[in-house]
Amino acid sequence: MTLLFTPNNIGSLSTPNRIVRSATAERMADPDGRPLPQLKELYKNLARGGVGLIITGHMYVHLSGKAHVEMAGIYTDDLIPDLRKLADAVHNEDGRIVVQINHAGMNANAEDVSEAIAPSAIEAPFLSRPAREITSQEIETVIQAYGNAARRCQEAGFDGGQVHAAHGYLISQFLSPFVNRRTDKWGGSSKKRMRSLREICAAVREKVGPDYPVLIKLGMMDSVEGGLSSAEGAQIVAALENMGLDAVEISGGIGGTKNLNVQKGIRSEADEAYFLPLARQARPVTQLPIILVGGFRSRSVMEQVLADGHADYISLCRPLITEPDLPNQFKLGLKEKSRCIAANNCWPTNDGDGIACKCPLEKVVIKVNA
Ligand SMILES: Cc1cc2nc3c(=O)[nH]c(=O)nc-3n(C[C@H](O)[C@H](O)[C@H](O)COP(=O)(O)O)c2cc1C
Ligand code: SF4
Repeated sequence: MTLLFTPNNIGSLSTPNRIVRSATAERMADPDGRPLPQLKELYKNLARGGVGLIITGHMYVHLSGKAHVEMAGIYTDDLIPDLRKLADAVHNEDGRIVVQINHAGMNANAEDVSEAIAPSAIEAPFLSRPAREITSQEIETVIQAYGNAARRCQEAGFDGGQVHAAHGYLISQFLSPFVNRRTDKWGGSSKKRMRSLREICAAVREKVGPDYPVLIKLGMMDSVEGGLSSAEGAQIVAALENMGLDAVEISGGIGGTKNLNVQKGIRSEADEAYFLPLARQARPVTQLPIILVGGFRSRSVMEQVLADGHADYISLCRPLITEPDLPNQFKLGLKEKSRCIAANNCWPTNDGDGIACKCPLEKVVIKVNA
């Protein structure tokens, strides 16, 4: 009995299996954030490869929130015709695709954004440059930008939107007691730090109506001292259903030397599913479908996590960079494990390259078999 290939639903969206492609910044867009033809090809291949739901790489909802060069954008209606080509390409392959919408906050890219904004102007060793405290008026602008970005997802024909509230970007910064030192209505208590997320979700719902699938990727804990704890992360999970969300993808980490989010050196089954402890904390407090990301490589581990009821979906990033057809290979019994060695050589070294698998896989395979 396979649970991985059992259909399921996220709100009004039906998926043929439980494998999600976790958001992966592809770096395949022009300087205005317009997707390049290779991005369409990449999504087409993922859909052909049998993934149940594709989540796009994060797209910036406002010009002030662009995280890096070659990032795709969803900040203006002018982009809708090009975005629609992505959705159409996936639907033509009978796939499903949701857009991850994001504002980078203090992690905005210096080449595109002259002054980065953050809940508070903190100093931290993991920050590449200082950020200015965002004003109340700018917070309102960003909230509306999320709402309009979600509307564009719907107008462009995508199957839903995913609010990015993880990995040290703006919403994650607001949730974090380490970054958010504000004393006005946007900071202080846990409830006040959650306010921007609540208002963003309300703005999104207002724009897309009650039935359009809206997901969230939530960083349930930070990776810095004084940051968000997993206990508080679980309280946020408990509040998500009332914010009108349809599913929660669980992640963690806010930056710093210890990269909690994209962990290296996954060598055994014991190293896999590294956010499972967070899912265990989330499961009792929410009825929402839980999508779990982080280090899955073996089919057996995926099936076990589903069988134990800790998650409803398994989300993969790096395994689908190196093998976009991994779901089909699993289904046909051709493979039991991803070949990804988690050494993190996926990011482009030059502009224009886009993501690609560049770990020395052959060498490693030869060594293992010797
Ligand atoms: C090249 C690359 C780009 C990523 N881009 C995003 C992104 O745009 N949004 C996001 O939420 N996470 C992003 N992530 C994190 C992944 O979605 C995922 O949470 C993490 O890699 C752990 O899953 P894995 O072990 O299956 O790779 C990225 C990771 C990699 C390696
Ligand atoms: S570059 Fe390395 S970490 Fe990235 S997908 Fe390939 S094997 Fe995995």
